Parts: sequence; structure tokens; C-alpha cells
Amino acid sequence: MQEKILVLDFGGQYNLLIARRIREQHVYAEVKAFGSVTIEQIQSEAYKGIVFTGGPNNVYDLASPHFDPAILALKIPILGICYGHQLLAWMAGGEIQAAENASEYGRVTLKSAGGILFDGVPAESVCWMSHTDMVKTVPAGFTITASTDNCPCAAMADDARRLYGVQFHPEVTHTACGKQLLGNFLYKICGCRGDWTMEEFVSASVEKLRQELSGKRALCALSGGVDSAVAAVLLHRAIGDRLTCVFVDHGLLRKGEREQVEQVFQHRFQMKLIVVNARERFLSKLKGVTEPERKRKIIGEEFIRVFEEEAVILGKQDVLVQGTIYPDVVESGAGSAAVIKSHHNVGGLPEKIGFERVIEPLRELFKDEVRAVGLELGIPEELVMRQPFPGPGLAIRVMGEITEEKLTALREADAIFREEIMRGGLADAPNQYFAVLTDNRSVGVMGDARTYGWVIALRAVSTDDFMTADWTRLPYELLARASSRITNEVRSVSRVVYDITSKPPATVEWE
Ligand code: XMP
Repeated sequence: MQEKILVLDFGGQYNLLIARRIREQHVYAEVKAFGSVTIEQIQSEAYKGIVFTGGPNNVYDLASPHFDPAILALKIPILGICYGHQLLAWMAGGEIQAAENASEYGRVTLKSAGGILFDGVPAESVCWMSHTDMVKTVPAGFTITASTDNCPCAAMADDARRLYGVQFHPEVTHTACGKQLLGNFLYKICGCRGDWTMEEFVSASVEKLRQELSGKRALCALSGGVDSAVAAVLLHRAIGDRLTCVFVDHGLLRKGEREQVEQVFQHRFQMKLIVVNARERFLSKLKGVTEPERKRKIIGEEFIRVFEEEAVILGKQDVLVQGTIYPDVVESGAGSAAVIKSHHNVGGLPEKIGFERVIEPLRELFKDEVRAVGLELGIPEELVMRQPFPGPGLAIRVMGEITEEKLTALREADAIFREEIMRGGLADAPNQYFAVLTDNRSVGVMGDARTYGWVIALRAVSTDDFMTADWTRLPYELLARASSRITNEVRSVSRVVYDITSKPPATVEWE
């Protein structure tokens, strides 16, 4: 049985990060909102350990998230972090106080007094703090194992009951000893073996899907993105030709994208792939439309219609495969952090076609794990490491009305910019980069003649999560090459500008 850790979510902002950090150490971790599990469920899942996460509350406030103190008697090791540390202290009979003048935020020096959790951690190291309350009196049975100048109980331990708490955040990279400390908890305290690897995941998933889908036929919509590609190849490995993939070419793809999908799925993996040429259909629906949200809606609806029609032509399919990944699952309600996901690549696929059910083979994985599975399955790196591309495609990168002429100019300019970035071999490559065709024309001069062509904007951003993003400081030489090539090679473009706005206040996309 796969060993696993429960991350009990009390509403902090780093909760998914905690699960990721644990999985990076080869132990499977799942996040559950504190109100969504009972003591009995925790017991029956045989967790190797539990982490209480941080959260913005005060334990004495009755409205704050609490948990049945019986959890402390389950004999499962617990690590409380930040609010979780205070909650653990409070549940075990300790006292908490508001640290009004002594609240700490940011990098602080941590002095450790030893103990199993701090094995291999230097006596002094830097940690990341963010709190206004702190533990005033440790509960009976606990000892203080670390402190900072303003926080006498930065860590506490009760080795007999295997209960531990830390006021700082071991999951953020600013905490120098974070990895060591989490590793100590997992391996020295919880006794984990470390059986979470992508190789194991692939073989276990293939076996499980093979059994579950014996004799069944499956349908998968490929978006061209990483998640649906990995889900499809995994399914294909399990059920072979009983999987059919549909790729809708809506005419809003980047240069070479459709060919890449055909190359990978049809030729390399020999999968059953139907490429639907729906370019004219989408363009005619989008004729005269300038408003971005309207464009998105039309594309989303038309996509479903095309997909439904294909499904009817194919005849009965038992299951629908989707590339939902873990952050989508948690963000849509399983956890309690208030994150709203507003964009979906292949959103709201049809329920009424009559599938028995939806299969989501990646719903336990983080993005980097999905990429690792993709590589494990032999999907080419260009596809696995691909930058995100919005579902509505170039429609939201052609400002104003979409025409074939504008799309062609944008496709060429975008391909040149991508090529130059690739060629630049940047150590810190931007996380997303593309060209935008602004709805403006500008005067230029070429030879002896005046020109009046499109203004192309180049955008490149560096970001961890796309919620905030900084514009990437690309080398001037790279920008110069891209600009010169675009104006020379794309006749209808007379001017190139570089977008130097961060998010916020701007968004990544222009529309
Ligand atoms: P924004 O522009 O909201 O972009 O800062 C954040 C990330 O989301 C992508 N994006 C979309 N993805 N459908 C999608 O599938 C959309 O309508 C959409 N709009 C933006 C954007 O490319 C960036 O990665």
C-alpha cells in the first residue's frame, strides 16, 4: 500500500506548497480541508503522518478552524506549522499569546537546540516567519527545540507522542533548513520509505486503468497542452486502440502546432487521432467580434459543439478522459484556500453525450509531476516543457476583430520571437512569451516608400504561478534580432514594441 501523509488544511496560503515539498522527497501527500475529514476517516486511511498547516486565524477565536483533539491520540506523528503549531500547542493544553510588538515577518535567525526534527540542522540558520501570535507556554510533555530573538518557542517537540510544532515555514525556500527538517519528519519520525516516484506512478496507474477499463472505449480531447497530452498517452499505454483522441484545429493555433500534435500522437505513438479542421467554422462565428470575453465564449461553445459532433460520428464511447491536475481539484473546493481559477483550457466538456463517467488519471499530480510523467512516457521534451497557451489561442492575441490576414501576420511574428528565445539559450528563460498583434497600424519606411503596417507587441513574463508575473528582462541583442527579423520577414508589420508591464497591474495576456 502506498504510504501517504495528510496535509490538514487550516486555510494558509502555502498549503499546496507543503504537499509539493513532501512529494519532492518521494512521499505522497494529499491536502484536505480541516472540515472535510473526520477522525474515523483519518484512521482508516492509515496515514504515516499528519501536517497541520498555517492559516490566518487566532486559536482563541471560536470562529477559527479547529479540530477534534482526539487526533493527538491516534499515535500518528503530527507536525504543526505556524497556525498549526499554535493549534497543536493549544489542543495539548499550552497557551498562546498575541505577539503585538513582537510579530515577525520575513527572514529571521533561528537558533536550534537539537532534537530529532533538527538533526543535521546548524545551530543557527535563516528561517521564514510570518505570524502575529505565538506559543507562550508549551504544553506538558513538550520541550522547546528552537527559538528566535522575538519568539521564544519557534519549535517544540514531544518525542514520546511524536508531536512537533514549528512557528516558521519549512516549506518556503527562504527557510534554509526546511528541506532537512521535512525530511527528518518524514523519514526519521514517520518512518516513511519514500515510495513516491513517477516511474511507480506510471506502472501503478497503467495497471489500475487496464483493470478499470477492461473492454471499454475512451475518448480524449487533446488541447495541444501538456496535461491532456500526458493523460492521453497514459491511457493509450493502458488500453491501446480503445482510446480515440480528438484534436480540434480552430484556426487559432500557433505556427506548427497542429503538425506537432500529429507528429507526436499519430506517428510516434501510433494513436488513433482525429484532427478536425474547423478553421472556417470558428472564423465565421468570430467575424466582427471584438470584445475579448465574447470571443472566449464563442470559442468555448463552438469547441463543445464540434467535439459533440465528432463523438456522435464515432459511436458509443464509454468514458471521457480529462487532463485535470491536482491544483485544479484543490482550487475547485477540496481545499480551503480561496483561489479562483477562471480559465480552463478545455472547459466544460459535454456531459450529455452519454459517457458512463469521466476519467482523470492526473488528478493527484502537480504540474511538475505531470511533466515528469510525460518524460517517463517518452513524450518529446518540446511538448512536455511547453509554455502555457490559452484555450482561445491567438484569438485573444489579435486585438479587435480577427481576420485571416491578422492571424497570418501574428503567427509568423510569434514563431520568430519563439525561435529567437530558443536560440538565445537563456539560463533563466521566461515562463511565457509570445507576440500580440495590436489593432494599430503605424507609419514606417522601407526603401524609398512609406509603409503603413501593423504594430506587433512582444511579451515575455517570469512567474511561479501566473497569479503575479514580472516582465522578463530579455537581453537587448535578442530583442533587436527579433524586431529586425519580424519587420523584415513579415511584410505587413512595420513596428515592434516590447511590453514592460508586470502583473498586476497588467495581465499576462493583452485581452
Ligand atoms: P492573465 O492574462 O489572466 O493570464 O494574466 C494568466 C495565465 O492564464 C492564461 N490565460 C488563459 N488560459 N483560457 C486559457 O486557457 C483563457 O481564456 C485564458 N486567458 C489567459 C494566460 O496565457 C496565462 O498563462
